[in-house]
Amino acid sequence: MKKILITYWSGTGNTEQMANLVAEGASGDGIEVILKNVSETSTDDVKNADAVALGCPAMGDEVLEESEMEPFVDSISSIVEGKPCVIFGSFGWGDGKWMRDWYEKMEGYKAKLVADEGLMVNGEPAGADEDSCKELGKTLKDSIS
Ligand SMILES: Cc1cc2nc3c(=O)[nH]c(=O)nc-3n(C[C@H](O)[C@H](O)[C@H](O)COP(=O)(O)O)c2cc1C
Repeated sequence: MKKILITYWSGTGNTEQMANLVAEGASGDGIEVILKNVSETSTDDVKNADAVALGCPAMGDEVLEESEMEPFVDSISSIVEGKPCVIFGSFGWGDGKWMRDWYEKMEGYKAKLVADEGLMVNGEPAGADEDSCKELGKTLKDSIS
């Protein structure tokens, strides 16, 4: 059975809601979806997954959350090479610089980014944003089906 890992950091629950929707879109077709907070996620979880979705909101000054998510992302730099990946996260007031920088970082790791850009949602996902999150999960699933 193919496995999709969805791991995220979320302070106030918006990116967590996105992760739940990505998981919904990735489910079905005999895929095992593993949804975890980054604090419970190991590098082996990434190794063992056929595809990975990573979620983190814009924090600090347009950066990834620095105590858990950024070190985790750095720790999987060699593991994601060639692995289908997508990235997503919620933001508040910025222009998405954190997501563009993160996408570039993942490209530098040679991850196989299967969506053209990271998915950003302003605040809580609602309406069309919910569909975009589910679609992102489906895109990831389709990349390994
Ligand atoms: C400490 C802190 C720093 C933040 N920095 C940014 C930022 O640089 N740019 C931005 O667009 N939003 C920023 N935000 C807003 C969050 O990205 C936004 O509230 C998001 O919805 C939080 O997602 P979460 O509920 O998954 O934690 C910041 C929020 C906090 C608490």
